[in-house]
Amino acid sequence: MDSGDLRFSIRVVFALCLVCFSVGFDPVDKYYVNCGSSNDVKVGNSIYVADKSASKFLTTPQDILADSNLNSITPSEESLLYRTARIYTGPSKYTFSISQNGRHWIRLYFYPFVYQNYDMRSASFTVFAQKTALVSDFTPKNVTVKEFSVNVMSGDLVIAFSPSSNSFAYINALEVVSVPDSLIVDHASLFNPSGEFNGLVNQALETVARVNMGGPFVSFSNDTLGRTWVSDRSFLLQPNLATNESKISAVKYPQGGPTTDIAPPTVYGTCTMMNSGSDPNSNFNVTWVFSVDPGFQYLIRLHFCDIVSTAANQLVFNVYIDSFLVSPDLELSTKSGGQLATAYYMDFVTTPFDKSKLGLSIGPSPRSAYPGALLNGLEIMKMNNSRGSLAGAAILPTFPGSKKNLGVIVGVSIGVPLALVMIGILFFMHRRRRQERLRHSRTWVPISINGGTTMGSKYSTGTTISVGSNMSYRIPFIAVQEATNNFDESWVIGIGGFGKVYKGILNDGTKVAVKRGNPRSQQGLAEFRTEIEMLSQFRHRHLVSLIGYCDEKNEMILVYEYMENGTLKSHLYGSNLPNLSWKQRLEICIGAARGLHYLHTGDAKAVIHRDVKSANILLDENLMAKVADFGLSKTGPELDQTHVSTAVKGSFGYLDPEYFRRQQLTEKSDVYSFGVVLFEVLCARPVIDPSLPREMVNLAEWAMKWQKKGQLDQIIDPNLVGKIKSDSLRKFGETGEKCLADFGVDRPSMGDVLWNLEYALQLQEATVHNDPEENSTNVIGQLSPQVGDFNHVDASPSVAQFETSSVDDLSGVSMSRVFSQLVKSEGR
Ligand SMILES: *[C@@H]1O[C@H](CO)[C@@H](O)[C@H](O)[C@H]1NC(C)=O
Ligand SMILES: *[C@@H]1O[C@H](CO)[C@@H](O)[C@H](O)[C@H]1NC(C)=O
Ligand SMILES: *[C@@H]1O[C@H](CO)[C@@H](O)[C@H](O)[C@H]1NC(C)=O
Ligand SMILES: *[C@@H]1O[C@H](CO)[C@@H](O)[C@H](O)[C@H]1NC(C)=O
Ligand SMILES: *[C@@H]1O[C@H](CO)[C@@H](O)[C@H](O)[C@H]1NC(C)=O
Repeated sequence: MDSGDLRFSIRVVFALCLVCFSVGFDPVDKYYVNCGSSNDVKVGNSIYVADKSASKFLTTPQDILADSNLNSITPSEESLLYRTARIYTGPSKYTFSISQNGRHWIRLYFYPFVYQNYDMRSASFTVFAQKTALVSDFTPKNVTVKEFSVNVMSGDLVIAFSPSSNSFAYINALEVVSVPDSLIVDHASLFNPSGEFNGLVNQALETVARVNMGGPFVSFSNDTLGRTWVSDRSFLLQPNLATNESKISAVKYPQGGPTTDIAPPTVYGTCTMMNSGSDPNSNFNVTWVFSVDPGFQYLIRLHFCDIVSTAANQLVFNVYIDSFLVSPDLELSTKSGGQLATAYYMDFVTTPFDKSKLGLSIGPSPRSAYPGALLNGLEIMKMNNSRGSLAGAAILPTFPGSKKNLGVIVGVSIGVPLALVMIGILFFMHRRRRQERLRHSRTWVPISINGGTTMGSKYSTGTTISVGSNMSYRIPFIAVQEATNNFDESWVIGIGGFGKVYKGILNDGTKVAVKRGNPRSQQGLAEFRTEIEMLSQFRHRHLVSLIGYCDEKNEMILVYEYMENGTLKSHLYGSNLPNLSWKQRLEICIGAARGLHYLHTGDAKAVIHRDVKSANILLDENLMAKVADFGLSKTGPELDQTHVSTAVKGSFGYLDPEYFRRQQLTEKSDVYSFGVVLFEVLCARPVIDPSLPREMVNLAEWAMKWQKKGQLDQIIDPNLVGKIKSDSLRKFGETGEKCLADFGVDRPSMGDVLWNLEYALQLQEATVHNDPEENSTNVIGQLSPQVGDFNHVDASPSVAQFETSSVDDLSGVSMSRVFSQLVKSEGR
């Protein structure tokens, strides 16, 4: 090699390095998360790390890691990300620590699949970034990538997931990456009327379209900022009027102008243009049409690069956004000092858009020597609205975990149904004081009506509900009247201590259950408030949801989701409903146990239901169980000590004897009552039946007698005889027995009960069992140390071991021992 060659090589290497430096934007913050997986995966040059719950990173009430068991979903680079998902049954969040303020990408990857009881195609949820709702009541139907960019001013970026009522949320992968400051500058042009928009820097943006005109799909690995660009063919209104050109190597990035971070050469180097061919009289537009959400403003970025002209000033054309001439007589060469093939872009901001289609056209200008027009790239970004939201629907729950935001206007209504009935009704009240009294903020409730202000509520009697978060649930009396056909007696579906329960139908056809309290008594009022307070704070698949309430005219009305199949009790005895199978009964018990477990281990303070009974376990159209009736609930045992006078409450036959004796209330009282429910489910008879011989009157005593003799099978529901596997029955009986222990300390927690019921279900369904070593009596004992400290979400590594098992919805409790037990008994 002579010195000339060497010099040449050095120059080449030097040039390459320059390219490296100029091309590679190195984001300061970069988080790539492979959700619901215990393994990291590499996609492109990024490693998506497995998310771990209960870290600062991820906070979620349950730990559900879903695996699609598919090797490939779509043959794309990011397929690996879609293999697993994390499911959230309650408000959950990721917290990313941000080291450099400024704009950050947020990319969310969804692929719905069916995992155990969770059909993700029907999931519905809201995602927030800080206080911006990114999507609301969102149901991805297929592989979906959502890209946003938000300006993070300090500290942490919190991305939160809130399931819609009765649903759950999920995500397959997630990324948060710094964006170079130069990408979105503060101002853009306005048209109609023309002017300048300032303040772009503070906008949250959602990418609606990012298109490579006249070129192919550009994958994220070919873009310095990890963006993808799609081909424009499918957006062209009349593809025959357009043609394309490609000259990627000709693209120049001018000094002080756009860089490859604005758009890569594969975008600037291809274009779609007027197909004027050899006709010098061509006079038409090339138009692209995009779907947008009405009601928002859009940032539209047009990328140009004249790769077709052979000399400056050859090409002059017009650009229209939705029929407005935004750039008349555009002559690209004048933008770059006479140079051709030079990257150039323009930003426009629309006025709030009232249509769902946005058109963009290019067409000839009479000033052009020859008719022609071109476009190289296009980006359409939705801007947050004045409420700071990017979500289109009217349903905007508050940002979970944000105290400040409670009571602030965040949306229009709880939902279209209520919007319809609530329209026109505004409440103006003060709110500041009440907010401070909020004890928890894990609600996602407050909603205002039709843009009105939401705030505290005052009873007509002068009593104030001290929960700021529930106010938005208010429903006008007239709407309730309409829904129940003016409290038609023939629409009564139940009568309880509190009053009558009516079936109701809201304007839009939604079925509801309307509970109307007896004329206001002090006790009724207290229960009414407790119920609203509880239900507006706790949302769970297995707790019945409150849709609203009405306290006008001294009324105490609660409106719930309608539970098609009524009470568990009605399916056990005293009606002509078809018998439930053992599996159905176990699943119902498991669902109810989950609801109670959630209450007992809630985020802030444990809640004791105090009236657990089969009449308070409701079944939806799929026989899914939901716990109802929170009127007697209490938060935390300590609360009771300050209210010592409280009379013993609850229902006979279910009452914890220890509570009765000592008047000391703990979660274990619910466990006792639940134990009675278990035997009720097994024996299908009332818990107190005075018509029976004395020793049989009380179900709990009667069942315990047979359980202790080991002959529980003698008293089970005749319809179940021969249908329960003996192991399953044994496990179930032992679980019930433990629940009915005389002293609370000897009873298992709801978490333990849940796992043992799951186990009983597994034993029922397992084909091979009868492990001689398996002595299930000590399952509860073995589990207690682990499950006992399960208050929030357990971060122990055993969760990961467990996720592959077939046990339904493990919900975050570490139970590797039960798992090994299952493996053992099933594996023989
Ligand atoms: C989902 O998307 C893939 C491509 O990503 C497509 O092949 C498939 O047909 C879509 N499925 C449905 C149901 O639309
Ligand atoms: C370019 O145009 C031709 C026909 O004019 C079309 O078949 C082709 O798909 C276009 N290429 C792109 C990338 O749009
Ligand atoms: C994208 O990059 C790959 C290599 O990483 C290359 O083979 C491919 O041609 C590129 N595609 C485009 C559109 O530039
Ligand atoms: C192109 O579109 C604009 C806006 O819709 C319209 O005003 C103009 O007349 C069109 N030009 C041609 C040649 O059709
Ligand atoms: C977007 O939100 C910011 C602050 O959250 C607000 O200042 C801005 O006005 C909003 N944008 C629009 C177009 O309303």
